[in-house]
This record gives sequence, C-alpha cells and structure tokens, in this order.
Amino acid sequence: MDLFEYQARDLFQASGVPVLPGLVASTPEEAFAAATKLGAELVVVKAQVKTGGRGKAGGVRLARTPEEAAAHASAILGMDIKGHLVRRVLIAAGADIAEEYYFSLLLDRTTGGYLAMCSKQGGVEIEKLAVEQPEALAKLTIDPLVGLDHPAARELAKRAGFTAEEAGPIADVLVKLGEVYRDQDATLVEVNPLVKTTDGKIIALDGKVTLDGNAAFRHPEWAQYADDAAEDPLELRAREKGLNYVKLDGSVGVIGNGAGLVMSTLDVVAGAGADLPSQPRPANFLDIGGGASAQVMANGLEIILSDTDVRSVFVNVFGGITACSEVAKGIIDALAILGDRATKPIVVRLDGNAVEIGRHMLTEAAHPLVELVDTMDAAARRAAELAAAAE
Ligand SMILES: Nc1ncnc2c1ncn2[C@@H]1O[C@H](COP(=O)(O)OP(=O)(O)OP(=O)(O)O)[C@@H](O)[C@H]1O
Ligand SMILES: [Mg+2]
Repeated sequence: MDLFEYQARDLFQASGVPVLPGLVASTPEEAFAAATKLGAELVVVKAQVKTGGRGKAGGVRLARTPEEAAAHASAILGMDIKGHLVRRVLIAAGADIAEEYYFSLLLDRTTGGYLAMCSKQGGVEIEKLAVEQPEALAKLTIDPLVGLDHPAARELAKRAGFTAEEAGPIADVLVKLGEVYRDQDATLVEVNPLVKTTDGKIIALDGKVTLDGNAAFRHPEWAQYADDAAEDPLELRAREKGLNYVKLDGSVGVIGNGAGLVMSTLDVVAGAGADLPSQPRPANFLDIGGGASAQVMANGLEIILSDTDVRSVFVNVFGGITACSEVAKGIIDALAILGDRATKPIVVRLDGNAVEIGRHMLTEAAHPLVELVDTMDAAARRAAELAAAAE
C-alpha cells in the first residue's frame, strides 16, 4: 500500500525525521488558511498523488502569499497527473535549499535483504541517474536483522561521496528513516530530495512510503490510509466480498482454486493467446481458494462477468480436499444465482478428486454458456479462442 506524501511526512515527523511544517488542503480556501497558519515567507503547494514526476507536471509550485497559495491550489486541484486525479494539496513551508540528495531503503528480493541507496545528485529523476550515471548512486545491502544502523548509514553516505564531516549529520537522518522503515513494516522509504538547507540542516522535503500489506494485521492504525479512490472498483468490490482478485488488462477472465494454480493458468492463457492474431491475455487473477461454496463461486463469477473487458471465462479447478462434484455444484448454483447476468462463455476444466462425478453433473446441467474441456492447455486455448472471436 502506497502512502501519500503528506502521510509519509506525518510518519517521518512522528519518528523524529526532520521535515518542514505542512498542512493538507482540498480546496483553495483551505489552502489559503493553511498558508496563513504556516506564516512562512515562502510556501510550496504540492499535488498529492501516488505517482512520481509531480514537479514536471506542474503540480509543485512556490507561493509568497496566502492569495498566491490559493491560486496555485485552485490550478493544481483537479489536475490529472499520469491518470491520477489531484484531490488534495500539501501546503508546506518553503526551504532555502543549498543541495538536493537522494535516499531510499527498500526490500530487495534478489538478496533476501534490504537495499539502501543514496546519491549526492537528488531531486532529479533517479531512474535516469541510475542508467546514465550509475556510479553516482551508491548502494549498500542491509542485513534485515541489523537494519540501517549508524555504521551502515555512514558507510552509505561515504560511498555516495560525502566527506566524513558531512556524513555524520546525514547518517543521523538516514538511521531515523531506517527506523520508520522497520517500525512501520515498510517495503519502501524514499526521500527525493533530501536537502541540505543554506543554514546546514538536513531535511526530508519529499517522502514516498510503501507499507507491506502482509503486516496489516498488526497495524490497525493503517485503516486511516484506506484509499478507495485510488483502487480499481472491481478490486474494491472483490475485497469487500473477501475474494483474492487482481485486475489485469486482458480479456480472458480466470478463476481457479489455489494461488499457484491460478498463476500457472495465467501463463497458460497468455501462451495460448500469443498464438492468435489478436493475442488475448488474462483479464484477472482470482483465487477462490479451497472449499469454495456456490456463493463464493457466484461472487467470483459475478465480479469477472461485470468486467467489461472480459470476453470469455476460464474456470480451472483441481479438486483436492474440495471434490470436483462440490465445484460443479458451485458452478451450477452460481449460474442459477446469476441468472441472465451471466452473459459470457465459460470454459471449465475440472480434474482431481471426484472428477468423473463433477464432469457428469456439468454435462447433465447442460448450461448453454458452459463448455467442458478435459485438459488445462486445451481449455486455455478454447477460452482464448472464444475471447478472440468476441472481440
Ligand atoms: N518545501 C520546499 N521548499 C522549497 N522547495 C521545495 C520544497 N518542496 C519541494 N521543493 C522543490 O521542488 C522539487 C520537486 O519536489 P518533490 O520532490 O516533492 O516533487 P517531485 O520530485 O516533482 O515529485 P515526485 O517526487 O513525486 O517525482 C524539489 O526537488 C525541490 O527543488
Ligand atoms: Mg521528489
């Protein structure tokens, strides 16, 4: 889960990371009031969207008076930045910037650890810097059991080219950012720019924090970060129904039991689609889990069928603890529940426990939308063909 900059700023502040005073506004009037309250000579009006490149898009503007802040807010609110609608702005006190640096700490799956990165050339697009001047971006692998401690932070700063004297105060801030990462169960803490002000202070001027959704169970306070507007409406509905659903961009709806099977189903569908001229691809990931009841199957089918991108559906089930007969009953009952809301062809592949009974039940039911196919490969091909034919 990604946080907005203002939420990251608040977390930083609570952990003792130096930040500038800032207030959130969702109308020009609130922006005026916020700028007045901050009372700073210079304020910055910043679009709050969960994407980068806000400055370039005109979403970060300096204001010298509350009137100016309100005018900027009025221009920025409602802006579309890379498909993200700006609903709020952060009004932050302006900094006298001497230098802009870069820092991030993130989960590195390849090393099974954390990766800390730092550069003296911050403020710019870091992806570009990493490609054009990789030597300017210092990297250090961090042992998760130790975390970003003071020696590691100093080492990173040294590698980035800071003198021993400069490295001390920077390391102090990096250690605190490391604490935010650890205490908040984050998978990313990025500050671009981390600035040195003209009076020598190190301040986090921007913040990106990604929280690890797997840790949500021990962070009831994360409820405040729920952001329905940023979520895909289908994913939101699926979550309300307790379904494990991820929207993708193809046209073949996929339902399976067990995450591993569904993942391989996505591959097989993509592979089958690649052989067709229109190259249909999976429209979603949906794992209905073991022991799926008819209601769960109906919920799953309903979500997939209401996706307007979907042209065909592939139900791929391997009966283990749940017998195929239960699954067949689930599909039949689900179609009865859905009635004429079910409108797209459904290819079903059943295998495993009680497969004969399951297939027999579906054959008997003879639902006009349902087509039984014996193997996973053949079923994927059929579903892809049906999707291609309907395009
Ligand atoms: N409080 C501030 N005072 C003075 N200048 C600021 C302040 N905040 C930001 N800036 C300036 O604006 C630039 C862009 O700000 P910021 O990094 O927050 O947005 P961005 O980089 O455009 O957005 P993103 O990080 O989402 O790509 C900074 O590099 C800095 O020069
Ligand atoms: Mg930035």
